[in-house]
Amino acid sequence: MTTTHGAGEDAAAAGRALAARMGVPFVPRGGHGLAALLSREGAEAALVFGPQRLSLVFYRDGRREEFFFHPGTALLRIKNILAGKPDQMIRAMALRSGDTVLDCTLGLGADALVASFVAGPQGRVVGVEKVAPLAAVVEYGLRHYVEELLLTAAMRRIEVVVADHYDYLLQLPAASFDVVYFDPFFRVPVKGAAQVAPLRAVGERAPLEEETVRAALRVARRRVVLKERRGSAEFARLGFREIYGGRHAHVAYGVMEK
Ligand SMILES: C[S@@+](CC[C@H](N)C(=O)[O-])C[C@H]1O[C@@H](n2cnc3c(N)ncnc32)[C@H](O)[C@@H]1O
Repeated sequence: MTTTHGAGEDAAAAGRALAARMGVPFVPRGGHGLAALLSREGAEAALVFGPQRLSLVFYRDGRREEFFFHPGTALLRIKNILAGKPDQMIRAMALRSGDTVLDCTLGLGADALVASFVAGPQGRVVGVEKVAPLAAVVEYGLRHYVEELLLTAAMRRIEVVVADHYDYLLQLPAASFDVVYFDPFFRVPVKGAAQVAPLRAVGERAPLEEETVRAALRVARRRVVLKERRGSAEFARLGFREIYGGRHAHVAYGVMEK
């Protein structure tokens, strides 16, 4: 962890404290370029603490990639929901206000945010992410990003857990969440989904295991939902029969009811 160029003492102190909580080394920026700092420290990526946000920065094929939390696509989906348009994920989850959702693949938190908005203040959304630096960036954003009131509240309500979802599911009591959700990286990426490419570079790409789906079914009170490419063989392999999704959409949602 380091800070942005020219960050003041306060940012350095906050970055240092966050690094200590996460158990990662803090390295003062000291006027260095990030590529030089990474190679000096022998690090693959840096968490960069700035006045506005926490980013994860790394280099891939010589190109700088930067992740930070932004509610972008979730915002658009929430606007559509407010305008009365159906959201396929919410339909597949049959999600209502007051429901509880375990999002087993938090990623950049977009699906969790839409779910949190719909579940509302009486509901609960817990997001599980295996890659700790990614979880740190998203959790920081969910705690600090400011949007209009209801959206900000929906962000703040999401609880972030750093864990492998299988291990975490095994620890949970039976029937403890209404919906358990998976959005693993698609086995065959959608062409032109450029925004997912850098996430694929840092995220956990192992396929979903059948035993994980079984563990999810125990934890779910109502249903387990899997997002994959439309027509993906993953649905049949993992036992999802009921499929939701627009006829022309790239993605589909498999549903397994209790
Ligand atoms: C396609 S992304 C999810 C995107 C997310 N739905 C969103 O709206 O931003 C998949 C995420 O799941 C995480 N993941 C994959 N396998 C996991 C596991 N076994 N336990 C926890 N997280 C996992 C990956 O690291 C990645 O961040």
